[in-house]
Amino acid sequence: MNDQAQSLREKFHKGTDHSLSSKKTKVITVTSGKGGVGKSNFSLNFALGLIERGQKVVVIDLDVGFANIDVLMGISSQKNITQMIDNNLTIWDIIELGPKGLEFIAGGTGLSHMIEFNEQKLNYFFEQLALLNGYADTIILDTGAGISKETLRFILSADEVILVTTPEPTSITDAYAVVKMTQSHKPNIRFNVVVNRAASYKEGKSTGAKLALVAKQFLGLELVSLGCVYDDVHVSKAVRKQEPFFLSYPTSKAAESIRSLVSSYLSRKTQQGDDIGIKGFISRLRQLWKS
Ligand SMILES: Nc1ncnc2c1ncn2[C@@H]1O[C@H](COP(=O)(O)OP(=O)(O)OP(=O)(O)O)[C@@H](O)[C@H]1O
Ligand SMILES: [Mg+2]
Repeated sequence: MNDQAQSLREKFHKGTDHSLSSKKTKVITVTSGKGGVGKSNFSLNFALGLIERGQKVVVIDLDVGFANIDVLMGISSQKNITQMIDNNLTIWDIIELGPKGLEFIAGGTGLSHMIEFNEQKLNYFFEQLALLNGYADTIILDTGAGISKETLRFILSADEVILVTTPEPTSITDAYAVVKMTQSHKPNIRFNVVVNRAASYKEGKSTGAKLALVAKQFLGLELVSLGCVYDDVHVSKAVRKQEPFFLSYPTSKAAESIRSLVSSYLSRKTQQGDDIGIKGFISRLRQLWKS
């Protein structure tokens, strides 16, 4: 156990009942149709953008195949959700501290069998997740490539969904397929679209517009456009350095795009209501796991 993690736990968690806090912890699921479009980089750097604006953010890596948010930060996770469930650890035992106060939880490969979890395992997972209520402003769930049964449930239960696409036609088509598939489970689902790797503002805008048009025309669904992230060589440079581009290259085009995306995200009219927040999220997840 590293010292930083230990002091983090002692400082924040012991004996603190965050559920009494009035803060609503919003849960965002980040997904895409096609893999490799930039979800993990977006999740991490968007989280850092929210932190820059004063939020407390926890990122949870649900990509069980190639979990890599920790690699993008140059951290090697000691513990994950799978171990938490198997060894009765608490959520505070597995949370890692990243740069700028970002907190991070790794999923672990066992989560790929989540659909088969028995009632006891599921309950333990949900109980521990619920402890984050009131602790953070935002929890970002980064999902893996492709829509597994588990990922679909995290999309359907989240307070908000961010759908990442690139301007490539295959990526747009696959993003549309995700919208179509999820809408058949939840007709009024709201998608916030981010166009990653846009060569220009114009290309970003027209990609978002194309996707919005087909969703409107064929599904009668309004998509919310959050904006775009420029295609920028600083992203892969930062990936190679294992540092988030938002921190390594704060004035790069990609970092500036994240900053303006965060502004547009924070200034949107958001859904309000009692079911917003982690408690609602968990109760929706429970329902889906029962069905
Ligand atoms: N805005 C960008 N500009 C340039 N390159 C980018 C950008 N975003 C992502 N990339 C490149 O795409 C690669 C894949 O990104 P990332 O790992 O975030 O995708 P992903 O959607 O999480 O993949 P997976 O579906 O496998 O989880 C990065 O390593 C980087 O090289
Ligand atoms: Mg990823």
